[in-house]
Amino acid sequence: MKDGKIRFTLNGREVVYEDSPLRRLLDVLREDLGETGVKEGCGEGECGACSILLDGKLVNSCMVAMGTMEGKNLMTIEGLRETEQGKCIIDAFAEAGAVQCGFCIPGMVMAAQSVLQDSPHPSEQDIRKGISGNLCRCTGYDQIIQAVLTASEKGEGLW
Ligand code: FES
Ligand code: FES
Repeated sequence: MKDGKIRFTLNGREVVYEDSPLRRLLDVLREDLGETGVKEGCGEGECGACSILLDGKLVNSCMVAMGTMEGKNLMTIEGLRETEQGKCIIDAFAEAGAVQCGFCIPGMVMAAQSVLQDSPHPSEQDIRKGISGNLCRCTGYDQIIQAVLTASEKGEGLW
């Protein structure tokens, strides 16, 4: 941190942040940076609706203070959906009928990306483990698991 400024990368572009280091990353993303695909569910690290990739790892943005963000590399659903990988996952969610109310889906897509990054050919068990921090009240998870399997198959070579 220099001059009280915090610099980090958001979806490939540099962001300079000058407000309180105590604010939550989730609030800065939604309120300051227009990243409204990042949802707030519980606000307590329990539901995964606010999931982002921070230095490549799946993280709940409601649990991250801005003071820890210097030099970090952040990807949100707004960035992921512009990539071939993101498009493949989103298409697979649609094909599997994995989207009902949709509230959990941005976080689920981020979790799916994390699963596929770690394991391009995941087992059902790998997927269940990878999305275990993301709650969905609508689907019963089966269609979501199918969507990740479909993305893995149709996106062969992307991860
Ligand atoms: S809003 Fe962050 S985990 Fe629920
Ligand atoms: S689709 Fe409604 S919470 Fe998951």
